[in-house]
Amino acid sequence: MKHGSSKARFITFEGIDGAGKSSQIDAAVALLRAHGIVVEQTREPGGTPLGERLRELLLHESMDRETEAMLMFAARREHLAARILPALAAGRWVVSDRFTDATYAYQVGGRGLDEARFAALEQWVHADFQPDLTLLFDLPPRVAASRLAGSGAAPDRFEREQHDFFERVRAAYLLRAQRHPERIRVIDAHRSPEEVRAEVETIIKARFLS
Ligand code: TYD
Repeated sequence: MKHGSSKARFITFEGIDGAGKSSQIDAAVALLRAHGIVVEQTREPGGTPLGERLRELLLHESMDRETEAMLMFAARREHLAARILPALAAGRWVVSDRFTDATYAYQVGGRGLDEARFAALEQWVHADFQPDLTLLFDLPPRVAASRLAGSGAAPDRFEREQHDFFERVRAAYLLRAQRHPERIRVIDAHRSPEEVRAEVETIIKARFLS
């Protein structure tokens, strides 16, 4: 069945570092494309030339937590204006590795940013716009940390945070999922990649491809 003419959707993937999102995103995008859907795959922070420059700073330069939150939303505003909203308007679906739920989890949960400030920025940058579906990959931070350690990649500023930080990030993600149960689906990521992929496929098919 062709879905190219149906309403374009915005799907986001979330989870703590080491949850195994990346390969799942590739598989989900491949699934949508196999159904004839035109998809733009993108990420945050990033997704535009300016956003990628902000990403470099955010991942490697130490900064005040309010600065960090504002730069995350500045990159997001550019991403929405230059890429996400034009793509959706043209009928292309958008799949993003992270969006505003990550700011709630990392900056409010992890860093302790005031929630009202987060809410004000969210309201400013995308008042009445949210993803159609968010897949939250959940697993214990210790398991995620051992996966990251095994990857051999040099850790960025967030990945160097301690265990407690990721416990707070995880808890904030789960709270956000509780508050938005219709949008955010929690996926148990403490399983084999094949099992996780099968669940992602089932959710996407049931929601959009049936
Ligand atoms: P990610 O792309 O998952 O990192 P990687 O390329 O290493 O897989 O995300 C980059 C980091 O940015 C991640 O540690 C989470 C953090 N982040 C925030 O703290 N707040 C945000 O709003 C976003 C989008 C990301």
